[in-house]
Amino acid sequence: MAERKAHRWIERRVKCAVFLLAVVQASFGDIRYSVPEETKNKYVIGSLTKDFNLDFKLLAARKPRVDYQGERRYCGIDLTTGDLIVLERIDREKLCGQTKTNKPCILNFEFILENPLELHNIVVEVTDINDNPPVFSKDVIKLEIGEAAPIGSRFQIPTARDLDVGINSVQNYILGRSEHFVLDVQSNTQRGKYAELVLKHTLDREKEGEHTLLVTAVDGGNPSRSGTATVHILVMDFNDNAPVFQQTVYKVNLLENAPAGTFIVKVSATDKDEGANGAVSYDFNHVSENSKRLFHIDEKSGELKVIDKIDYEEASSYEIEIQAEDGGGQTGHCKVLIQITDVNDNAPVITVKSALNPIPENAPTGTEIAVINVKDLDDGDNSRVHCFLSENMHFTLQSSIKNYFTLVTKAVLDREEVSEFNITITATDGGSPPLSTDAVLNFKISDINDNPPAFDEQSYSAYVVENNKPGTSVIAIRARDPDWRQNGTVSYALLSGEVSGVPVSSFVSINGDTGVIHAVRSFDYEQFRSFKVQVVARDNGSPPLSSNVTVSVFITDQNDNSPQILYPAPLGKSIMTEMVPKAAYAGSLVSKVIAVDADSGQNAWLSYQIMKSSDPGLFTIGLHSGEIRALRDISESDTMKQNLVISVKDNGQPSLSTTCSVYLLISDNLAEIPQLKDKSYDESNSKLTSYLIIALVSVSTFFLTFIILIVAVRFCRRRKPQLLFDGAVAVPGAYFPPNYADVDGAGTLRSSYNYDTYLTTGSRTSDFKFARSYNDVTLPAENTLKRSPNGNSEDMDITGNGSKYG
Ligand SMILES: *[C@@H]1O[C@H](CO)[C@@H](O)[C@H](O)[C@H]1NC(C)=O
Ligand SMILES: *[C@@H]1O[C@H](CO)[C@@H](O)[C@H](O)[C@H]1NC(C)=O
Ligand SMILES: *[C@@H]1O[C@H](CO)[C@@H](O)[C@H](O)[C@H]1NC(C)=O
Repeated sequence: MAERKAHRWIERRVKCAVFLLAVVQASFGDIRYSVPEETKNKYVIGSLTKDFNLDFKLLAARKPRVDYQGERRYCGIDLTTGDLIVLERIDREKLCGQTKTNKPCILNFEFILENPLELHNIVVEVTDINDNPPVFSKDVIKLEIGEAAPIGSRFQIPTARDLDVGINSVQNYILGRSEHFVLDVQSNTQRGKYAELVLKHTLDREKEGEHTLLVTAVDGGNPSRSGTATVHILVMDFNDNAPVFQQTVYKVNLLENAPAGTFIVKVSATDKDEGANGAVSYDFNHVSENSKRLFHIDEKSGELKVIDKIDYEEASSYEIEIQAEDGGGQTGHCKVLIQITDVNDNAPVITVKSALNPIPENAPTGTEIAVINVKDLDDGDNSRVHCFLSENMHFTLQSSIKNYFTLVTKAVLDREEVSEFNITITATDGGSPPLSTDAVLNFKISDINDNPPAFDEQSYSAYVVENNKPGTSVIAIRARDPDWRQNGTVSYALLSGEVSGVPVSSFVSINGDTGVIHAVRSFDYEQFRSFKVQVVARDNGSPPLSSNVTVSVFITDQNDNSPQILYPAPLGKSIMTEMVPKAAYAGSLVSKVIAVDADSGQNAWLSYQIMKSSDPGLFTIGLHSGEIRALRDISESDTMKQNLVISVKDNGQPSLSTTCSVYLLISDNLAEIPQLKDKSYDESNSKLTSYLIIALVSVSTFFLTFIILIVAVRFCRRRKPQLLFDGAVAVPGAYFPPNYADVDGAGTLRSSYNYDTYLTTGSRTSDFKFARSYNDVTLPAENTLKRSPNGNSEDMDITGNGSKYG
């Protein structure tokens, strides 16, 4: 089958060989080689590198290939030398057996190089060697000759056939020893060399009824080969006429795939003789095995019919020699030329010659990713192939060279979007109806590390309650990377930085795999309230890609500081005594306890209570102001010396408290002070105590003077109210107790409370400034919870540390 196919291809090629050579050589600079048939394997036909001027070192990289459009390969490339070599037996007679002697036997190859795609035609002429002897179609040739045949009568002998061509074909016929005949060798274009027996002496059937002659056909090869046949001559009474065909050549067209039994042509020969001598029977003379398989001739009628499947792709024409023989052995010959008409019965065949798979996702547009060959075994329009891609946004098909297409990217590929493509290529031929073939090519896209890790959020905020245990997890952050495998494997690290001059790594650490941030040590809200760390997420690609994010860590307050009394000074260091005028009325301000709490918000919202009093009911203390006021008017009967034990409590959960003592002296006269010397005062340190008392008395004196001054000022203001009103008494419109520490919507701790203002009240002179506002002992609950409108007046930040607490 393969041989026949090849044969047919050759036939087709031969027909257009001249045209091809002219066109193709002009456009591609083709090369023509010649090779004798029947050479051994690896026979070197020619050097491709030399003839196509190719760089031998680059040859292998360009994937050189020699394609023969049949099932056999015949030739190939020796990559070690760059030579075109014979790969299998080339039998010229099998390839081109039916070619005429003057037509060369041609093999057409396509020589393909990639990168860039290049196509050359290589024409290899297979030259004949004398490997076939002449053969007669029959070993014994029967001839009946009438005894009355005159001297000089001629009798045709069937020709011998030699599959070789040119000089290697039959050149001569030689007759063995014979008394009656000589051989006359002639030639014409129709039959080539043929021989006729010429009668030399008259025959006498009665003397010798049969003659046996030996005819040898010799070819012109070196050494020459020969074939013999025996001519068996029966001397007959009469048979004057050989059958004669009405036409010497019958030309018919036959459709490919014509079913068995299809009538082709009826040949007919007549013989003028009568009886058996005039009865004609038909048979094939020289026909190929193939023709014998496909066609049948009716011996009697001369009707030629199809008996097997006719395939245009196997052979496009047949030449059949038919012999008519009469009863006397005389023969006549004719030829039937059958031209097969192509039917579009072959769909195009798509072959991927090379492919780049997987495709790197960063392949630039225009990258060649596959070379595709499409062929259709049919002929003419039936083999004109149109090739296209089904709707595709990423690829396009470019027609490069006859029947070759390159698949090219036309858009940027992104593995993270589409990681695999199924590309459908459809090839349709030009037949009617057309046939088409689909091929689905699967291409994978390989990863390039083109995505940096992306954090789930733009920034992170974490809240930690102070006094945490070292190792507490603070927050888990996560970054995602859509790349493949290690290109998408994310690890985390802290970027070096400092918090108040201390490396950030001594505050927190991060788990490189999970992104969980841990506290390295215990935090103190009173030391700092927040800090920022930079975390970098890095993928494992090479080179790696990274991105960073800011994590703000806010430390939230715990009630871990008890209130601190600023005034009066704590017991033990000194004893402070307040003077209370004897004439003080109910409600008048007597003294003030001043305390602070290092915590914030509720934890620093202080409340004051009198725990113990030498005269309960005489004094009261403002729950939140710490102002000690007389409950009733002071009377002469009240003891001069009053002791109060005051507890200061914050509002934390649980709350912490401190107590302090306040000594009050009801007296208008500083002279009375020495009498105050109490038994409780230690006599041993009397000297120091007396100094203290002197100091206290001076302070009190100064204080009284100041009161007098104030009274005087008030007196003056009453007289000139419009002038003095703003300057002297700057009474705040409303007073809010320390505001709650509050968390607003943005998660930022805010406090509008300013301790500075509070601390100024530590000086007794300003007590009066607040006298009016402090009057309300209990504030409405709603007010205490109100946040100041410009709530962001103090963002908690590293800078906002405890400096304000002195
Ligand atoms: C491509 O075809 C294969 C096999 O038919 C299938 O498994 C795969 O899911 C297809 N891929 C796409 C992207 O369509
Ligand atoms: C990761 O990306 C690089 C190029 O950036 C590539 O060479 C490598 O093959 C990729 N790795 C994987 C597992 O795809
Ligand atoms: C952090 O990221 C920003 C942009 O997102 C970049 O400008 C900066 O250089 C990065 N810092 C580090 C230390 O990588």
